[in-house]
Amino acid sequence: MKKSGNITWHHTTVTKKDRILLNGHKSCVLWFTGLSGSGKSTLANAVDHMLFQESYRSFVLDGDNIRHGLNSDLSFLPKDRKENIRRIGEVAKLFVDSGQIVSTAFISPFLEDRELVRKMFAPGEFIEVYVNCPIHVCEDRDPKGLYKKARKGEILEFTGISSPYEPPHHPEIIIDTNRMTIEQSMEKVMVYLKDKKIL
Ligand code: ADX
Repeated sequence: MKKSGNITWHHTTVTKKDRILLNGHKSCVLWFTGLSGSGKSTLANAVDHMLFQESYRSFVLDGDNIRHGLNSDLSFLPKDRKENIRRIGEVAKLFVDSGQIVSTAFISPFLEDRELVRKMFAPGEFIEVYVNCPIHVCEDRDPKGLYKKARKGEILEFTGISSPYEPPHHPEIIIDTNRMTIEQSMEKVMVYLKDKKIL
Protein backbone atom coordinates (compact mmCIF):
# COMPACT_ATOMS: atom_id res chain seq x y z
CA MET A 1 0.00 0.00 0.00
CA LYS A 2 1.43 3.39 -1.04
CA LYS A 3 1.71 5.84 1.85
CA SER A 4 3.58 8.54 -0.05
CA GLY A 5 1.90 11.09 -2.32
CA ASN A 6 3.22 13.55 -4.92
CA ILE A 7 5.64 11.10 -6.48
CA THR A 8 6.33 10.82 -10.20
CA TRP A 9 7.87 7.89 -12.09
CA HIS A 10 11.09 8.93 -13.89
CA HIS A 11 12.12 7.01 -16.97
CA THR A 12 15.85 6.34 -17.06
CA THR A 13 18.00 7.71 -19.87
CA VAL A 14 19.84 4.41 -20.29
CA THR A 15 17.17 1.78 -20.82
CA LYS A 16 17.08 -1.92 -20.00
CA LYS A 17 17.32 -2.58 -23.74
CA ASP A 18 20.55 -0.53 -23.94
CA ARG A 19 22.02 -2.56 -21.09
CA ILE A 20 21.01 -5.86 -22.73
CA LEU A 21 22.77 -4.75 -25.94
CA LEU A 22 25.92 -3.83 -24.03
CA ASN A 23 25.94 -7.07 -22.00
CA GLY A 24 25.13 -9.29 -24.96
CA HIS A 25 22.48 -11.24 -23.02
CA LYS A 26 19.01 -10.73 -21.60
CA SER A 27 18.25 -10.24 -17.92
CA CYS A 28 15.90 -12.34 -15.80
CA VAL A 29 15.25 -13.61 -12.29
CA LEU A 30 15.83 -17.26 -11.42
CA TRP A 31 13.46 -17.60 -8.48
CA PHE A 32 14.57 -20.68 -6.50
CA THR A 33 11.83 -21.83 -4.10
CA GLY A 34 11.77 -24.82 -1.76
CA LEU A 35 12.08 -26.03 1.82
CA SER A 36 14.93 -25.05 4.12
CA GLY A 37 17.76 -27.49 3.40
CA SER A 38 16.45 -28.35 -0.08
CA GLY A 39 19.56 -26.86 -1.72
CA LYS A 40 18.30 -23.47 -2.96
CA SER A 41 21.30 -21.44 -1.82
CA THR A 42 23.83 -24.04 -2.96
CA LEU A 43 22.25 -24.23 -6.38
CA ALA A 44 21.70 -20.47 -6.76
CA ASN A 45 25.36 -19.87 -5.89
CA ALA A 46 26.57 -22.62 -8.23
CA VAL A 47 24.54 -21.20 -11.14
CA ASP A 48 25.75 -17.67 -10.34
CA HIS A 49 29.36 -18.88 -10.26
CA MET A 50 29.01 -20.62 -13.61
CA LEU A 51 27.36 -17.56 -15.20
CA PHE A 52 30.08 -15.30 -13.77
CA GLN A 53 32.84 -17.56 -15.09
CA GLU A 54 31.25 -17.43 -18.52
CA SER A 55 31.26 -13.59 -18.32
CA TYR A 56 27.52 -13.07 -17.85
CA ARG A 57 26.31 -10.35 -15.47
CA SER A 58 24.77 -12.12 -12.51
CA PHE A 59 24.09 -11.81 -8.79
CA VAL A 60 22.60 -13.80 -5.89
CA LEU A 61 20.06 -12.65 -3.31
CA ASP A 62 19.94 -15.15 -0.44
CA GLY A 63 17.27 -15.48 2.27
CA ASP A 64 19.49 -15.70 5.31
CA ASN A 65 21.70 -12.81 4.12
CA ILE A 66 18.86 -10.44 3.23
CA ARG A 67 17.27 -11.12 6.60
CA HIS A 68 20.47 -9.77 8.23
CA GLY A 69 20.01 -6.36 6.63
CA LEU A 70 17.19 -5.11 4.42
CA ASN A 71 14.61 -7.42 5.99
CA SER A 72 15.96 -7.68 9.54
CA ASP A 73 12.69 -6.18 10.79
CA LEU A 74 10.64 -9.14 9.52
CA SER A 75 9.64 -12.32 11.39
CA PHE A 76 8.53 -15.70 10.01
CA LEU A 77 4.82 -15.03 10.56
CA PRO A 78 2.87 -15.29 7.28
CA LYS A 79 2.33 -11.52 6.96
CA ASP A 80 6.06 -10.85 7.37
CA ARG A 81 7.01 -13.63 4.96
CA LYS A 82 4.68 -11.96 2.47
CA GLU A 83 6.45 -8.62 2.96
CA ASN A 84 9.84 -10.37 2.76
CA ILE A 85 8.96 -11.78 -0.66
CA ARG A 86 7.40 -8.52 -1.90
CA ARG A 87 10.57 -6.58 -1.05
CA ILE A 88 12.81 -9.21 -2.63
CA GLY A 89 10.63 -9.11 -5.72
CA GLU A 90 11.13 -5.35 -5.95
CA VAL A 91 14.88 -5.67 -5.41
CA ALA A 92 15.11 -8.48 -7.99
CA LYS A 93 13.27 -6.23 -10.43
CA LEU A 94 15.91 -3.52 -9.97
CA PHE A 95 18.60 -6.08 -10.78
CA VAL A 96 16.70 -7.20 -13.87
CA ASP A 97 16.30 -3.56 -14.92
CA SER A 98 20.07 -3.20 -14.48
CA GLY A 99 20.57 -5.97 -17.06
CA GLN A 100 21.60 -8.79 -14.72
CA ILE A 101 20.59 -12.39 -14.19
CA VAL A 102 19.59 -12.50 -10.54
CA SER A 103 19.23 -15.77 -8.64
CA THR A 104 17.07 -15.54 -5.53
CA ALA A 105 17.10 -18.21 -2.83
CA PHE A 106 14.12 -17.77 -0.51
CA ILE A 107 11.77 -20.43 0.82
CA SER A 108 8.92 -18.23 -0.47
CA PRO A 109 6.38 -20.78 0.79
CA PHE A 110 3.16 -19.15 -0.41
CA LEU A 111 1.85 -19.53 -3.97
CA GLU A 112 0.05 -16.20 -3.87
CA ASP A 113 3.17 -14.28 -2.86
CA ARG A 114 5.24 -15.83 -5.66
CA GLU A 115 2.49 -15.06 -8.17
CA LEU A 116 2.49 -11.42 -7.04
CA VAL A 117 6.22 -11.28 -7.77
CA ARG A 118 5.74 -12.98 -11.15
CA LYS A 119 3.34 -10.16 -12.07
CA MET A 120 6.04 -7.53 -11.42
CA PHE A 121 8.00 -8.85 -14.42
CA ALA A 122 7.56 -8.92 -18.19
CA PRO A 123 6.61 -12.32 -19.67
CA GLY A 124 9.60 -14.68 -19.68
CA GLU A 125 11.62 -12.65 -17.15
CA PHE A 126 10.43 -14.51 -14.05
CA ILE A 127 11.71 -18.08 -14.03
CA GLU A 128 10.40 -20.12 -11.14
CA VAL A 129 12.78 -22.93 -10.17
CA TYR A 130 11.17 -25.44 -7.84
CA VAL A 131 13.90 -27.02 -5.73
CA ASN A 132 12.00 -30.20 -4.93
CA CYS A 133 13.28 -32.33 -2.08
CA PRO A 134 11.26 -34.53 0.31
CA ILE A 135 11.03 -33.05 3.78
CA HIS A 136 12.54 -36.17 5.40
CA VAL A 137 15.66 -35.66 3.25
CA CYS A 138 15.86 -31.95 4.19
CA GLU A 139 15.40 -32.97 7.81
CA ASP A 140 18.15 -35.61 7.57
CA ARG A 141 20.49 -33.03 6.04
CA ASP A 142 19.50 -30.36 8.59
CA PRO A 143 22.59 -28.25 7.75
CA LYS A 144 21.79 -25.57 10.33
CA GLY A 145 20.24 -27.85 12.99
CA LEU A 146 16.95 -25.95 12.62
CA TYR A 147 14.66 -28.97 12.00
CA LYS A 148 15.88 -30.47 15.27
CA LYS A 149 15.05 -27.24 17.09
CA ALA A 150 11.68 -26.98 15.33
CA ARG A 151 10.77 -30.56 16.36
CA LYS A 152 11.61 -29.68 19.97
CA GLY A 153 9.32 -26.64 19.70
CA GLU A 154 12.23 -24.22 20.03
CA ILE A 155 11.39 -22.56 16.67
CA LEU A 156 7.76 -21.72 15.97
CA GLU A 157 6.24 -21.38 12.49
CA PHE A 158 8.96 -23.52 10.91
CA THR A 159 8.28 -24.27 7.23
CA GLY A 160 7.32 -27.90 6.65
CA ILE A 161 6.84 -28.58 10.37
CA SER A 162 4.55 -25.94 11.83
CA SER A 163 4.06 -23.65 8.84
CA PRO A 164 2.99 -24.72 5.32
CA TYR A 165 4.95 -24.91 2.07
CA GLU A 166 2.84 -24.59 -1.09
CA PRO A 167 4.67 -26.12 -4.09
CA PRO A 168 4.43 -24.31 -7.45
CA HIS A 169 1.75 -25.59 -9.87
CA HIS A 170 3.60 -24.74 -13.08
CA PRO A 171 7.25 -23.94 -12.35
CA GLU A 172 9.44 -23.25 -15.39
CA ILE A 173 12.11 -25.61 -14.02
CA ILE A 174 12.01 -28.46 -11.48
CA ILE A 175 15.18 -29.64 -9.81
CA ASP A 176 15.03 -32.84 -7.74
CA THR A 177 18.06 -32.28 -5.54
CA ASN A 178 17.53 -35.70 -3.98
CA ARG A 179 18.12 -37.45 -7.31
CA MET A 180 20.26 -35.02 -9.31
CA THR A 181 23.86 -34.02 -8.77
CA ILE A 182 24.74 -30.34 -8.48
CA GLU A 183 26.31 -30.51 -11.98
CA GLN A 184 23.13 -32.00 -13.50
CA SER A 185 21.01 -29.39 -11.73
CA MET A 186 23.19 -26.50 -12.94
CA GLU A 187 23.15 -27.92 -16.45
CA LYS A 188 19.33 -28.05 -16.45
CA VAL A 189 19.16 -24.35 -15.57
CA MET A 190 21.79 -23.40 -18.16
CA VAL A 191 20.01 -25.39 -20.89
CA TYR A 192 16.76 -23.58 -20.06
CA LEU A 193 18.46 -20.16 -20.26
CA LYS A 194 20.00 -21.04 -23.62
CA ASP A 195 16.75 -22.54 -25.01
CA LYS A 196 14.89 -19.34 -24.12
CA LYS A 197 17.66 -17.28 -25.72
CA ILE A 198 18.39 -15.41 -22.49
CA LEU A 199 22.06 -16.30 -22.90
S1 ADX B 1 10.71 -17.04 3.69
O1 ADX B 1 9.75 -18.07 4.12
O2 ADX B 1 10.37 -15.72 4.22
O3 ADX B 1 10.89 -17.04 2.23
P1 ADX B 1 13.57 -16.99 3.95
O4 ADX B 1 14.02 -17.73 2.74
O5 ADX B 1 13.63 -15.49 3.91
O6 ADX B 1 12.09 -17.50 4.35
O7 ADX B 1 14.43 -17.46 5.20
C1 ADX B 1 14.54 -18.82 5.46
C2 ADX B 1 15.77 -19.13 6.33
O8 ADX B 1 15.59 -18.59 7.62
C3 ADX B 1 15.91 -20.63 6.50
O9 ADX B 1 16.83 -21.17 5.58
C4 ADX B 1 16.43 -20.77 7.92
O10 ADX B 1 17.84 -20.72 7.92
C5 ADX B 1 15.95 -19.54 8.61
N1 ADX B 1 14.74 -19.69 9.49
C6 ADX B 1 14.67 -19.25 10.76
N2 ADX B 1 13.45 -19.45 11.26
C7 ADX B 1 12.71 -20.04 10.30
C8 ADX B 1 11.34 -20.50 10.23
N3 ADX B 1 10.50 -20.36 11.25
N4 ADX B 1 10.90 -21.08 9.07
C9 ADX B 1 11.75 -21.20 8.03
N5 ADX B 1 13.05 -20.79 8.04
C10 ADX B 1 13.54 -20.21 9.16
